[in-house]
Amino acid sequence: MTILSFETSCDETAAAIVQNGRKVLSSVVASQIDAHAVFGGVVPEIAGRMHMQCIAQIYQETLAQANLTLNDIDSIAVTHAPGLVGALLVGLNFAKGLAYATDKPLIAVHHLRAHVAANYLTHSKLEPPFLCLIASGGHTHIVHVTDYTTFTVIGKTRDDAAGEALDKTARMLGLPYPGGMHLDKLGQGGNPEAYTFPRPKVDGVDFSFSGLKTAARNAIVNAQLSMRNADFAASFQLAVANYLCDNTLRAAAELHCSTIALAGGVCANSVLRAEMQHRCAAQQIDLFMPELRWCGDNAAMVGAQAFYEHRAGNVASETLNALPNHPM
Ligand code: KG4
Ligand code: ZN
Repeated sequence: MTILSFETSCDETAAAIVQNGRKVLSSVVASQIDAHAVFGGVVPEIAGRMHMQCIAQIYQETLAQANLTLNDIDSIAVTHAPGLVGALLVGLNFAKGLAYATDKPLIAVHHLRAHVAANYLTHSKLEPPFLCLIASGGHTHIVHVTDYTTFTVIGKTRDDAAGEALDKTARMLGLPYPGGMHLDKLGQGGNPEAYTFPRPKVDGVDFSFSGLKTAARNAIVNAQLSMRNADFAASFQLAVANYLCDNTLRAAAELHCSTIALAGGVCANSVLRAEMQHRCAAQQIDLFMPELRWCGDNAAMVGAQAFYEHRAGNVASETLNALPNHPM
């Protein structure tokens, strides 16, 4: 099955063509980062307008890259939730229009399910069940993936997402938006033991990142740290990575699960990847991580999940709407 997919939930306009949930024939991502960076965060109104301006071109480009026409496409998939509603609606309406005009099935994909499916693009043998840590700019979840379309949330953040804590800390240091990636670069070669951070106390395997963020703020203000402080960047990232790893591995032990996957933009973080690799190897746990290009928002991961949604009979109707919040 060849699926044409769209992703416009935040600040990337993306389209892709994916075969049987695993093989990417083309993937095009237009990032709006430069437009939002001057404001230090995503401006929803601008995001929606920019998706409108470029979605038709991104669609053409993805077909051209794969050397296909719309006739070669079996189904149309789109992220319908969660995200900025004005941004989601652009991709949703474009996909709906195509599906309606060509009488092809329309498949609605949850953004976090798509992040999980990014792993299928990199690891052709990976199959559920596995435990997945999803860490992005807006979400931090530990999810038990028991089937391609069955997800149980085991733990999640009670306040900020991991990406938000990294981005806001980076911003306090004076680094550009989105700061996670810049913090990662700055921390290379820094001493990760130079600064210590309090361990948030939350029951079970839920997370809380607001205290870590406040501790970072206090350290930055008190010591007047600048965007050149590699030791601070390395230490803060290690605190975040350790916290993510601790809870994920605890959940895996409780569930007797010996396969872990990572998903979401934050799983591009070099400290988190190294820490997870090291710990999983020590505990004989199989670890799967998407290639860096599939960690952040893209449409190929949407096409991957859409294959399994379709196989499970999840085809959307013409009344499909965009939802800013929606459980997995
Ligand atoms: O999944 P994603 O692209 O968008 C959302 O669904 O939110 O995740 C974006 C988040 C941002 O917070 C960004 O700073 C973070 O992923 N990020 C990183 C890195 N690359 C992206 N955080 C830490 N290290 C990175 N290398
Ligand atoms: Zn995302």
